[in-house]
Amino acid sequence: MIKIYAPASIGNVGVGFDILGVAIKPIDGTLLGDCISIQSSNSFQLNYHGDFSKQLPKDIKKNVTWQAWNWFNEKTKKKKQISITLEKNMPIGSGLGSSASSIVASVLALNKFYKTKLTKKELIHIMGILEGNISGSIHYDNVAPCYLGGLQIITDDIHHITQKLPIFDNWLWVIAWPGINLSTSIARNILPSKYDKEICIKNNRNLSTFIHALYTQQQELAIRVMIDSIAEPYRIPLIPNFLKIKNEITKLGASTCNISGSGPTLFSICLNVSIANKVKKWLETNYIKNKTGFVHICTVDKLGARKLRI
Ligand code: HSE
Repeated sequence: MIKIYAPASIGNVGVGFDILGVAIKPIDGTLLGDCISIQSSNSFQLNYHGDFSKQLPKDIKKNVTWQAWNWFNEKTKKKKQISITLEKNMPIGSGLGSSASSIVASVLALNKFYKTKLTKKELIHIMGILEGNISGSIHYDNVAPCYLGGLQIITDDIHHITQKLPIFDNWLWVIAWPGINLSTSIARNILPSKYDKEICIKNNRNLSTFIHALYTQQQELAIRVMIDSIAEPYRIPLIPNFLKIKNEITKLGASTCNISGSGPTLFSICLNVSIANKVKKWLETNYIKNKTGFVHICTVDKLGARKLRI
């Protein structure tokens, strides 16, 4: 039997719409990510477990794990009868790379089980295609960090779709999912199809300054330029009280407050545990809408997807 875990991730990272993504892990050891287990069987089975399995589509063919299995069957021209268990630990439509987590775990587990030996580039490519089927357009800013860990920049270069960037090890990433779901394709369709020159220049300047700040380890500069001019202004109406929340947690000492991926999860960078705890508490009281919602203090998951001991 094979079991693969694939972590949660934050797409865009504030300043790099569809270009930056970071894998994260809660500091309390919570396994925030989906798992896929595969074993031989006489017939194909897809079993669901986990807190969020009830949110999965009823039509099995709409499930990314089924789609990944189907892709491997077509690729290898062998329809393997296997039993797959998807442990759905991530809420769907949360902005934490839930679909990416299922896709990455499925593709890696199937690649091992089918002994296909696909290259890293081929694996990321198919992960991106499966992500595109769900969200309406291919974007790698969740699948790449989820698979490879750390902070990734999507280069879309012909040889390397993604590259790892340095990051500040002291940053604490407080994430808050309110317990409500937001479709990624709706949050993408709300964006303009064309942008003003001024906005492009501003975003290019902030993103390039952010990358420079990472390489020169200037964290204050990095924080100041974590501004999203491409998606955030248009997605604010989808996030209840976003500007008020930003203002309140900034008063508590939070260094940033941005939308994680396409939302509604928010993420905030805090520079010490005491601030992170205050921000966590405030968000628990003021942003969480029901019992399923959660707030976690996270660090960067540098390992990405990995085999779990069974
Ligand atoms: N970059 C994508 C978006 C991430 O913001 O639409 C989706 O989680």
